[in-house]
Amino acid sequence: MRKIAVLTSGGNAAGMNMAIRAVTRCALARGWQVFGVQDGYAGLIARAEDGAEGGAENGAIRALQARDVGGILGSGGTMLGSARCPEFMEPAVRRRGLDNLASLGIDSLVVIGGNGSQAGANALHCDEPELSVVGIASTIDNDLEGSDITLGADTALNVALDAVDKLRVTASAHRRASIVEVMGRDCGYIGLNVGLACGAEAIVLPEVDMSPAEVAARIEDAYRRGKKHAIVIVSEGAKLRAMELEQILMADHCERIGFKLRTTVLGHIQRGGTPTIFDRILGARFGAHAVECLGRGMRGVLVGTHGGELGTTPLADIVGKIKAIDMSRVELARVLAQ
Ligand code: F6P
Repeated sequence: MRKIAVLTSGGNAAGMNMAIRAVTRCALARGWQVFGVQDGYAGLIARAEDGAEGGAENGAIRALQARDVGGILGSGGTMLGSARCPEFMEPAVRRRGLDNLASLGIDSLVVIGGNGSQAGANALHCDEPELSVVGIASTIDNDLEGSDITLGADTALNVALDAVDKLRVTASAHRRASIVEVMGRDCGYIGLNVGLACGAEAIVLPEVDMSPAEVAARIEDAYRRGKKHAIVIVSEGAKLRAMELEQILMADHCERIGFKLRTTVLGHIQRGGTPTIFDRILGARFGAHAVECLGRGMRGVLVGTHGGELGTTPLADIVGKIKAIDMSRVELARVLAQ
């Protein structure tokens, strides 16, 4: 009988639970045995004696039945837990994980996660080609090559946009400019799309730098045209973080910008959303497709969407890359904010 394990790794993303549920139930429907790995790669490399309860399984690796994944599809986070595990890039550490899987007779592994997690998946695939490793593209950053959209990005966008809409209300009531920092690591996807959707006066991205003087000019322009507020979106990966930008604006451009400034860093709130219908359905499709791929004998690939259709890309082709943002939206956002 085929035995597969599933884990979630790196930053949690809404929809991971739906993907776990789909992997589990689709695999069970084929008569396969399913295991859930607790806490991502950290659980995979745990020694049996590290496990809280041990038991038939290897500490952090436990059998999953259909009922174990019930009632989770509407919850954010991940029922399996997640972790950052930089030591997983060391071959000797990965070997421990491979040994743990082998000791339970597990022949396949589904890795739900983003860039770092898929680098780990690819490394496992190269170490042990006999283990069938399939990745599912999941990160709020949507920075992963090999999928137009990653699991969790839609929910994070909605959470961030909702927060900015609320900040606009208070900014408008006080005639202020609101600087809002959003997540995204080195990719401006969240910043760009939230900025476009909220009509931001300025959007500062890792990919498109904007000097403090230029930001000041945009805020000043909004003030002179009688706007009641201005919104500046800053991606966390931009050259200047939001707080630094505020300090420079206050020090060098305070007189001209008119508005008083307030800065908000949205931070991890963006990872705490309830999965949108988009992410629930994407999680279900990704999970089912990962099992389908394993059933067809595929390994070493990432499941994602290509033009809306499900597809796969070799993990080796996506590792270490950051997906480009749609530059036409940068110009669109600029024109529409006038
Ligand atoms: O990759 C998702 C993400 O939320 C990034 O946007 C952010 O840079 C990072 O994770 C934060 O990581 P941590 O939760 O480890 O602080």
